[in-house]
Amino acid sequence: MTMDAENRVEIQPLTHMEAFETLAGSRISMVLTDPALPDNPIVYVNRAFERVTGYNAQMAIGRNCRFLQGEGTDPDDVKRLREAIETQTECTVDLVNYRADGEPFTNRLMMAPIFFEDGSLRYFLGIQKPLAEVEDVLSPNAVRHAMREVQHRVKNHLSMIISLTRMYGRGAGAAQDQFQQLSRRIESLQVLYQELSNPERRRNMDTVSLGAYFSRLAAATQSLDGRPGLTVNVDVEDAEAESEAAIHMGMIVSEILTNALQHAFIGRETGRVDLRVQTLPGQSLRVTVADDGVGMPEGVTWPVSSSVGSSVIAGLIRQLNGTLDVKTGATGTVVTLDLSGVTLTA
Ligand SMILES: Cc1cc2nc3c(=O)[nH]c(=O)nc-3n(C[C@H](O)[C@H](O)[C@H](O)COP(=O)(O)O)c2cc1C
Ligand SMILES: Nc1ncnc2c1ncn2[C@@H]1O[C@H](COP(=O)(O)OP(=O)(O)OP(=O)(O)O)[C@@H](O)[C@H]1O
Ligand SMILES: [Mg+2]
Repeated sequence: MTMDAENRVEIQPLTHMEAFETLAGSRISMVLTDPALPDNPIVYVNRAFERVTGYNAQMAIGRNCRFLQGEGTDPDDVKRLREAIETQTECTVDLVNYRADGEPFTNRLMMAPIFFEDGSLRYFLGIQKPLAEVEDVLSPNAVRHAMREVQHRVKNHLSMIISLTRMYGRGAGAAQDQFQQLSRRIESLQVLYQELSNPERRRNMDTVSLGAYFSRLAAATQSLDGRPGLTVNVDVEDAEAESEAAIHMGMIVSEILTNALQHAFIGRETGRVDLRVQTLPGQSLRVTVADDGVGMPEGVTWPVSSSVGSSVIAGLIRQLNGTLDVKTGATGTVVTLDLSGVTLTA
């Protein structure tokens, strides 16, 4: 080896063939297709392609590369490839492909046309990089992390929706009340997400601790509709409920509690509301909301058919396989809800 005047190493250039053989032997998966043949079939695959896809050269040559695609492949990605081939331009896409044994992988495909010296099209080159090999995107840790991130965002988005609703509500004149009720309902959903994303929770993501959840819900409802002389007592037997059912129960309880705070103590300075949740033998749940207020107005058979609150309650009770019992009079109102469609875990 000698150095020339510019300090450059003098080398013996590789021939095209030697360079190609070197690349072909690398760990990078590659294919060549021939667009002059019908349906642009594969004419060459290297060893790395065989390793990545599980198909050997004999199985792959003569076929269009789309045989690697399947059910999970996004048609938009395929369309981008088709357009790049038509316009003889290069293109990179991450698309779902399937190995010979049926296992899916994300393939970062780089595809480029290769031209003759006269500028006419000769081959297409494709380089396949399986992404899951570099970072295991679906590890349990990554899933947990992603879940937390989603919950965090849902919480933030709910806060944003609540403040927007309030802002619009201020300028809404007669509709102001409805805006306020709407933001209250969104807020009770927010409480559930707070509970779901509570890092202290020992159990999995699918269940919610009813004790903690209903306590928060009662506190939130009270801070929205309560007055200084009104107390809310919460007595909830600790059980874990499946979170979907807990959302529904929470919405029902929030409506009934809100009713007590909004309607039961008209003209009164003080009052008391008891929220009680107990498990009954045989996997059902009893929710009782009792107030010592003025009772429902005469002639009102609650739940009514005309209000949002009653419609929410009636619809959700049906979903949870529940029954409703209402006792109301001069000493107050007691609403008892029995739910058998809730799965509890001890
Ligand atoms: C050189 C080259 C390599 C390709 N490699 C792949 C591949 O690894 N995986 C894949 O799903 N599609 C690959 N394709 C794309 C398909 O062969 C096909 O062009 C695409 O599905 C769009 O066309 P279609 O709509 O006719 O299927 C490659 C295409 C070329 C030209
Ligand atoms: N605990 C209660 N004490 C006294 N009256 C009640 C009580 N709960 C409900 N009511 C009466 O029943 C009516 C209907 O309640 P409902 O929740 O269906 O509608 P709303 O509270 O008036 O409106 P919305 O819930 O849609 O905001 C109330 O307007 C109120 O007169
Ligand atoms: Mg109501």
